[in-house]
Formats: sequence, C-alpha cells, structure tokens
Amino acid sequence: MKTSKRLKGIGEYYFSQKLREIDDLNKAGRNVINLGIGSPDLPPHPDVIRVLQEESEKPGVHSYQPYKGAPVLRKAMSGWYKKWYDVELDPDAEILPLIGSKEGIMHICMTWLNQGDEVLVPDPGYPTYSAAVKLAGGTCISYKLTAKNNYEPNFSKLEKLVRLSKGKRNRKGAIKMMFVNYPQIPTGRPPTKELFEKLLAFAKKHHILLVHDNPYSFILNDRPMSLLAMDGAKDDVVELNSLSKSHNMAGWRVGMLCGAKDRIDEVLRFKSNMDSGMFLPVQLAAAKALSLGREWHDQVNRVYRKRRDKVFQLLDVLTCNYSKEQAGLFVWASVPAGYKDGYAFSDELLSKASVFITPGGIFGEAGKKYIRVSLCTSLERLDEAIGRIKKHLLS
Ligand SMILES: Cc1ncc(COP(=O)(O)O)c(C=O)c1O
Repeated sequence: MKTSKRLKGIGEYYFSQKLREIDDLNKAGRNVINLGIGSPDLPPHPDVIRVLQEESEKPGVHSYQPYKGAPVLRKAMSGWYKKWYDVELDPDAEILPLIGSKEGIMHICMTWLNQGDEVLVPDPGYPTYSAAVKLAGGTCISYKLTAKNNYEPNFSKLEKLVRLSKGKRNRKGAIKMMFVNYPQIPTGRPPTKELFEKLLAFAKKHHILLVHDNPYSFILNDRPMSLLAMDGAKDDVVELNSLSKSHNMAGWRVGMLCGAKDRIDEVLRFKSNMDSGMFLPVQLAAAKALSLGREWHDQVNRVYRKRRDKVFQLLDVLTCNYSKEQAGLFVWASVPAGYKDGYAFSDELLSKASVFITPGGIFGEAGKKYIRVSLCTSLERLDEAIGRIKKHLLS
C-alpha cells in the first residue's frame, strides 16, 4: 500500500523504534539499562488502585462514557487546578479530559490548523509537537532554546520570525499557534512568572494561540505553575496537563485540556469523532489521584531527588556538563568531549556498556550536542550503570 502524502517525512516515533531495538538486545541476553524514556517506574497511590479495582467490579460501569468525560472527573480536575495553580476553571465548560496529553497535541493541530498554517515549535522540544503540526498540514517554524538564554525563547528573534512570516508572498496564514512547555523538555528549564508574562504579551500582540504543555510541573519543581494563571490568559492560552508523571499513571492514559469554553468546544468537535470517553473506573480512580495532598508529591520527589543526585554522579563520571537547576523527570547534559554528537555517544554507550540514554538530537538540531538521562530507574540500576560505564567505556 502506498501511504498517504501526509505521512511523508514522518517516521515511526523514535522511542517506538528504539525500544524494539533494546528489546532485541535483551532477548540476546544483554540486560540493557534503559535511561531513556520518562515512564515512571513507581506505582500510583494505593487508594487510586483500590478505586479502580472496586469500581471495575460494579455492574453498570462498562458502557460508553460521555465524550466530554465523567462530570466527577472534570470536577476533580477543576478542583486540582484551583488548589495547585490558583486557576478557576468551569468543570462543565473549560476542561476536556484526554486519553493522555499526547493525543491532545494532535487534536489541537487537527482542530485549528489549515494547510500551510505556521506554528512556532521549540528546538529542542518534545518531538510530537512538530509531528502533529506536519500531520495536520501545518508548517513548523522552530524557535531555538539555548543554554545562553537559559532555555527561554529569545523574544527579539521571535519578533523576527513573525515579521518573516508576515512578509512571505502568497502565504495562506501568518503564525497561528506556538507550542511552549515549562518545565521544559528536554532541557529541564523551570518556568518563571516573568517568562509566562512575556509569552502571553507576545501571543496577545500577534494573535497567536499559545499551547502550553504542562505535564512536569509537579516533578522536582517546588512551585507548580500554570500559564492560565496569568491575567487574561484564557483569551490566548490553552493548557495541556497529565497524570502520567505527577501521579505515576503513564500507562493509564489520563490527561486534560484546559482553556476557554469556545476553545474546548472546538477541540471536542474533532475529538468526539475520534474516540469515546474513558473507562469509568479509570476516570474515578484519576479523580481520586487528583485529590491527593502534598505528602504524595513530596514522597515521589524524595525518590527522584536521590536518583537525580546519582545521575549527577553518572554524568560526572562521563565528564558531561549540566545545570543542577533542572525540573522534571530528566537531566539534560552536554555530550562529553571527543564525541561528534549525542547519537554517536549514545550508540557507543549502548554497544559497549549496554546502557541507553537519549541522544539530544531527537529533540531538534539545537539538541545535537546534548544527551538526556531519565530518572525513572532505581538507585541500584543507576549504580550498576555507573559501574558498567567505568568498566566498559572508560577503562
Ligand atoms: C513534554 C511532554 N508532553 C507530553 C507528553 C505526553 O504525556 P502523556 O502521557 O500525558 O500523553 C510527554 C511524555 O513524555 C512529554 O514529555
């Protein structure tokens, strides 16, 4: 079969391929230590699992659910936004539960992009933004995030990109949307109020819809922040959030889109044609997860903090440079001297030490000289990785 034109230039997702390769190596007896993907290895809170179990045993829960999610879940999401981010969201109108925030990225692009519409995407950034823009027929305009600028956008360069876009002849549309994500993946840069204010002012000035992807705000980040908390943000911002990382529920596939009623209704027009509401017990258990207090997040973060210290040790052994002021589930570091780029380094580490880390280049050109190490591995496995590196790579 000939694949559709829209798939041109779109490969299988990097991790989808890489995990297969690692699986093959493991089948051949290699026991690879995977420090690549950010899939929490710790379980959700026991009460969350208990709700899923108890609710699943009830007879009336197996039918289709409302396209807009169960009211109890939307209410829990609204309460969660108020409690942690001080953002008021109408549970009936301003929240759309999602099967993970990743699908929301696609829905957003399918809802608002016409052929050739331009979208600002971060480089380095989560690869799904650019894939979804392209699949929806849009055009990516990448904006660089550099260590020199603390991984914040350079606003005078953004203005230049807007001018260039407006100046193109026969263009169908100027820049329509901008993806932003703080705490930023892969660089770990946490947000600041000043940054959010600047982003919002830029969006308002140029009538650009800001799509803020916010799944890491609870991980190694003392102050969870929402872009929707800025004055007047609902006119220009939609925000994606997720329970995958904050509640150790990546496999459960529960996320949300938050924003003005009209924006939510527009996305629902697309999404309700793609899928139905989630299994009710999953929604009820997710509501339970969202009611957990600070102790839950403190406990999760204590584990990640210890692991991060260990990852710092591992990076010191490798002589990589990195900042200790990073939020999220990863550590972003430069490639050690002597390697062409992160791909070459990652390949060598995998082949010699059976340790996998993510080459920064998968997040864009600007990430080529970097690597990203995940914190989703036990201290014991991290120690083992350090031992293997010393033995097989450095000796
Ligand atoms: C920046 C970013 N956004 C979104 C997602 C997707 O998360 P979810 O599990 O909610 O689909 C990820 C997952 O790794 C991510 O890193």
